[in-house]
Amino acid sequence: MRRCLNKIMKNILVTGGAGFIGSNFIRFLLTSNEGISITNLDLLTYAGSLENLQGLPNSQHYSFIHGDICDQELVEKIVGENKIDTIVHFAAESHVDRSISGPGAFIKTNINGTFSLLEAARKKWLAEGQRHDVRFHHISTDEVFGSLTPQGPPFSESTPYSPNSPYAASKASSDFLVRAYTHTYGLPVTISNCSNNYGPYQFPEKLIPLIILNALQGKPLPIYGDGQQIRDWLYVDDHCEAIWQIILRGKVGESYNIGGENQPANLEIVNTICDLLDEALPKSPHTPHNQLIEYVADRPGHDRRYAMDIQKIKKELGWQPRYDLKQGLSKTVQWYLDNQEWVSAIQKQKEYQGWLDKNYTQRGK
Ligand code: NAD
Ligand code: TYD
Repeated sequence: MRRCLNKIMKNILVTGGAGFIGSNFIRFLLTSNEGISITNLDLLTYAGSLENLQGLPNSQHYSFIHGDICDQELVEKIVGENKIDTIVHFAAESHVDRSISGPGAFIKTNINGTFSLLEAARKKWLAEGQRHDVRFHHISTDEVFGSLTPQGPPFSESTPYSPNSPYAASKASSDFLVRAYTHTYGLPVTISNCSNNYGPYQFPEKLIPLIILNALQGKPLPIYGDGQQIRDWLYVDDHCEAIWQIILRGKVGESYNIGGENQPANLEIVNTICDLLDEALPKSPHTPHNQLIEYVADRPGHDRRYAMDIQKIKKELGWQPRYDLKQGLSKTVQWYLDNQEWVSAIQKQKEYQGWLDKNYTQRGK
């Protein structure tokens, strides 16, 4: 059944909407779908910023609440008072390296936080019996499936879970909780497992924005191990569109893989970014930027290869990625060049500089 937007899906709670993907999703929804009201619940950790939400279109349909998804009382209050009928759950600790140096926050937010949201939804939505006019959409990752061998088939929705990092294990746990709530209580849920996103507003601890910003400053471009690890890169706008299609037309209780069908090795990505910067800034003292590449100690337990089989979402929902990597990277590099105020606000954060220096030093440099 196609859900009728005007009758059913009006009041959306987005968690983690001040982060990278959440803020892009809110902008996407406000741009393309009138008549929807969005409440954004975000704790504004180091990774979240209201700067990511400046200049939203149709902002009269948007409101922000500063709070923790682990605070079940608060979530219940928001779901009740704002008549929430759809929860889109992005909020998480999201960086693998940080999960290795400090897993505690990942267990708390990703597992306990998801549990608290599910409980709030169950209490508020199902107290008087089954409902079909509500939806809990949970955002997960391909990392729950573990690591692929070089020739192995890509991850499909039926690949067994085999998470390797504390981050991946915390996301796998949250996926299982979501699954249990639909089987046990009949909570109408969908899950999406997506691959590595990139694009505007990504916090520069992740590979692509970190390389762009380090290269602009003439800092080393750290390559973990041999740089031959493979990820399946998904431009964030494609991801937002896919999530929305799943919410509108996906089958309750199902999970959907989302990937970009771009699977180069890390070193190739870094070289492409360097080439784009050389082109954009031929007179920079750091050109050619690939002279800044530096091999550093590998990440412990580093997954070698991720790749997504996206046949299910293509066939059932007619979604497919629009961006190839070259187009997506060009747009992304240009966005960071054009948004130096946003960049310098982050670079001024003590926490961020401290993290970068510590991570770099720990890798033996
Ligand atoms: P992000 O780190 O950029 O943003 C996370 C947001 O969650 C931040 O705004 C932060 O303030 C907020 N948050 C953290 N703890 C919170 C709490 N306890 N209560 C309320 N808000 C809290 O993350 P992202 O890259 O935008 O990822 C969003 C989701 O997508 C996550 O669930 C992540 O696991 C998943 N995902 C991301 C990628 C990727 O490539 N970025 C890939 C696959 C899946
Ligand atoms: P990252 O962006 O942290 O995403 P994830 O670990 O969730 O895939 O890393 C992407 C890939 O890039 C991963 O193989 C680790 C590698 N990497 C580097 O080589 N250097 C870096 O400085 C970072 C942050 C990542």
